[in-house]
Amino acid sequence: MRKIYIFDTTLRDGEQSPGVNLNTKEKVEIALQLEKLGVDRIEAGFPAASPGDLAAVNAVAKAVKHATVVGLSRSVEKDIDAAYEALKDAADPCIHLFLATSPIHRKHKLKMEKEEVLARAEKAIRYAKQFFNKIEFSPEDAGRTELDFLCEVTEMAIKAGATVVNIPDTVGYMTPSEYGNIFKTLKENVPGIETIQLSAHCHDDLGMATANALAAILNGADQIEGTINGIGERAGNTALEEVALALETRAEFYGAKTGFNLKEIARTSRLVSKLTGMVVPGNKAIVGANAFAHESGIHQDGMLKEKSTYEIISPETIGLKESTLVLGKHSGRHAFREKLIDLGYELDEESVNAAFAKFKNLADRKKNVSDEDIRAMLEEKLIETPE
Ligand code: KIV
Ligand code: ZN
Repeated sequence: MRKIYIFDTTLRDGEQSPGVNLNTKEKVEIALQLEKLGVDRIEAGFPAASPGDLAAVNAVAKAVKHATVVGLSRSVEKDIDAAYEALKDAADPCIHLFLATSPIHRKHKLKMEKEEVLARAEKAIRYAKQFFNKIEFSPEDAGRTELDFLCEVTEMAIKAGATVVNIPDTVGYMTPSEYGNIFKTLKENVPGIETIQLSAHCHDDLGMATANALAAILNGADQIEGTINGIGERAGNTALEEVALALETRAEFYGAKTGFNLKEIARTSRLVSKLTGMVVPGNKAIVGANAFAHESGIHQDGMLKEKSTYEIISPETIGLKESTLVLGKHSGRHAFREKLIDLGYELDEESVNAAFAKFKNLADRKKNVSDEDIRAMLEEKLIETPE
């Protein structure tokens, strides 16, 4: 099985979610949990962005013992100096340099020609090399960059000393086949590509972030970047728990695995949600409250007979106790009878039928019927029936 390195950017791109602001203590708490989860690299922040972020990255750098700690930096000396200051105490530091390369960014944002972009990036990588052994370089908006220019940029980055070249789909514009093709083209055409790692960094503007990351893996990416719960700028980043579980569940298809301790996923998701204040939608893959909940009678009957009928991942895999059968108007007699047994009621067939009819009436009025509702319904019946 090929190992896929996981670069977690919850504390940097994730913190760029509108409304999210993590203090130093919160960043350290999340970073330590990310280490337990088994991420390989933790991007702790953008040291030049503010004195507070520099201090937070420094605190993470001191606290983390096994993972590489990464700081983001524009391709300018003062940012690189700030990143060095923040990361100098890390056991394994890495700087993440970026500079936009797409025609749209070159023309409107940077007002630079291709040659100037190449020269600025090369100068930054060489300057950073004095302080860092590990350098990741990102041609920002790589997804919309001309492929031949992206090959040129990648070759320059390798020669200048980058150890990882990351391919950001900054605006979530790519389709899986286009994004996969970038990796294939770089692998086949760039001299020295085998000496570095290629990384995928996807955004979810069109709901493709996980699919694109997986396409990158199929085309030779060594590292996936993303966040817990998929939080991040605009529609967010690749959700790392989705990548880890896709590789785990379809190992025969991808032939690759992360080093995740999968049982820490639920705990990590809850911590990130709590500290960022970003609620995980109920239907979110893997970590949403409904990801292991079954409501319809047909599904519940299947689950009670054999779980693999409707579950491709067991909740225990990600550190949850068990799946839930939610009682609602689509639920059937089988799940209802199981619920009665769970709640400690032993009723004969006739009483179960009567209670089930009552439950269906109640379920028409209430979206979800709770254990308390069922108890109340049955107590009423038990009081009515003895005489
Ligand atoms: O999406 C992006 O382009 C980024 C870069 C800084 C890598 O987050
Ligand atoms: Zn990003």
